[in-house]
Amino acid sequence: MSPRLRHLTTLENLPRATIERLLDRAEALRDACAHGTRKLDVLTGRTVLNLFFEPSTRTRTSFELAARRLGADVINFDIGFSSTSKGEELFDTLHTLEAMHLDAIIVRHKHSGTPDELVHHAMSGVSVINAGDGNRAHPTQGLLDALTIRQHRPDFENLTVVICGDIRHSRVARSDVHALSTLGVKEIRLSGPASLMPEPEEFPHVVHVDDFDEAIRGADAVIMLRLQKERMASTDLPDEAAYFSRYGLDQRRLALAAKGCLVMHPGPINRGIEIASDVADGAQSRILEQVGNGVFVRMAVLNEVLAR
Ligand code: CP
Repeated sequence: MSPRLRHLTTLENLPRATIERLLDRAEALRDACAHGTRKLDVLTGRTVLNLFFEPSTRTRTSFELAARRLGADVINFDIGFSSTSKGEELFDTLHTLEAMHLDAIIVRHKHSGTPDELVHHAMSGVSVINAGDGNRAHPTQGLLDALTIRQHRPDFENLTVVICGDIRHSRVARSDVHALSTLGVKEIRLSGPASLMPEPEEFPHVVHVDDFDEAIRGADAVIMLRLQKERMASTDLPDEAAYFSRYGLDQRRLALAAKGCLVMHPGPINRGIEIASDVADGAQSRILEQVGNGVFVRMAVLNEVLAR
């Protein structure tokens, strides 16, 4: 059995058995919830801090819900009204909050690597969970995307998954590639404008296909990504109409994929830029299932790092 995680900052190099254990636990929690179990007391007396230095709707809310459903207390740290705005440094904020006896810190930060720095500086006994750092990792998103695919297509060894859009700036794409390749997905294809693709040596085992029509042909799942304007220089910004015509997912392109291809997007979506409304809201869309699975994956991760 793979050892229990104390922290979760990335899926890179995580053993397959650990990823599968987290997905299995998330699935069991989803089943329990479907049968009416809405609250467990496995984390009663534990305190979880949501420390988000970047905006979030899905991740922050679902971590809060996940912690509460497991019986933990939750503090949502409001950066805008905190002493960060008076110049307090990250590690002073960390030690100040730790003095109030925390058990876990869920952190989102614009700088890649911040969660690992917190692991290094955190008091022993405090777990750190990465809720997205720069363009590096968003491990719980990678897990919930894998769970959503597994729910419909557990035969990973037969699957072709396409990830399309602004991959260069995407922590979601990186965590998806790490999760799906570890779980044995047959082929992962990356597609997007050359200026928004990663260096080929970053993912030598995935296929890069510039032409999205070609990339999506025969795909079993397609994960669309938002243009991360907040991480681009203004000169990198593509014209949105031209971008949609080359890389947007519409009904014509979806028809090139395998029958029943899963349509996914981590959100927030930009309708008419990376995905057409009738596809985002269509019968093949799994976007809201992804959101729902986020709660169960985050319950599974909190349970993993915090349960006694
Ligand atoms: N997918 C995701 O991270 O969404 P939020 O930014 O709303 O948390």
